[in-house]
Amino acid sequence: MMISKKIQDEFNAQIGEEMFSAHLYLSMSAWFESVNLRGFANWMRVQAGEESAHAMKFFGFICERGGRVELGAVAKHQAEWKTPLEAFEAAFAHEQHITSRIDSLMTLAVSEKDYASQSFLKWFVDEQVEEEAHADEIVQKLKMTGGATGGLYIIDRELAGRK
Ligand code: FEO
Repeated sequence: MMISKKIQDEFNAQIGEEMFSAHLYLSMSAWFESVNLRGFANWMRVQAGEESAHAMKFFGFICERGGRVELGAVAKHQAEWKTPLEAFEAAFAHEQHITSRIDSLMTLAVSEKDYASQSFLKWFVDEQVEEEAHADEIVQKLKMTGGATGGLYIIDRELAGRK
């Protein structure tokens, strides 16, 4: 069954959301580099790579279902944050936004009785649980440090290990 126009449009919009996520996290990575927190910068760069992979999953699925991929512009986003905590709180809030997007795509796929799209989206439903948990874990750790330099450097060293 070919993908419906409505789902195609929404999935194309989701490619844009995922590419926006990639840009946002790359921008955060650049900011972390600028304040010499290279472990945080590494974590964000790896995260940006995952977001590009998410976009490509939607890209591939639309093509497989006989749809047409249409790319829009990626909106401009914030480039500076006051603290690592502020950046990670923004990342966490962004992931909550993405979760609500995925949920509404699932609602649409259910209402259209598009089972292939539901199966495809199931991966993203599970992924968003992890995405939110990972961002929130770092928010909580940063809160524990209370902004103290020592704690910040320990977390920075830890995040340098993400591949
Ligand atoms: Fe593509 Fe971070 O969700």
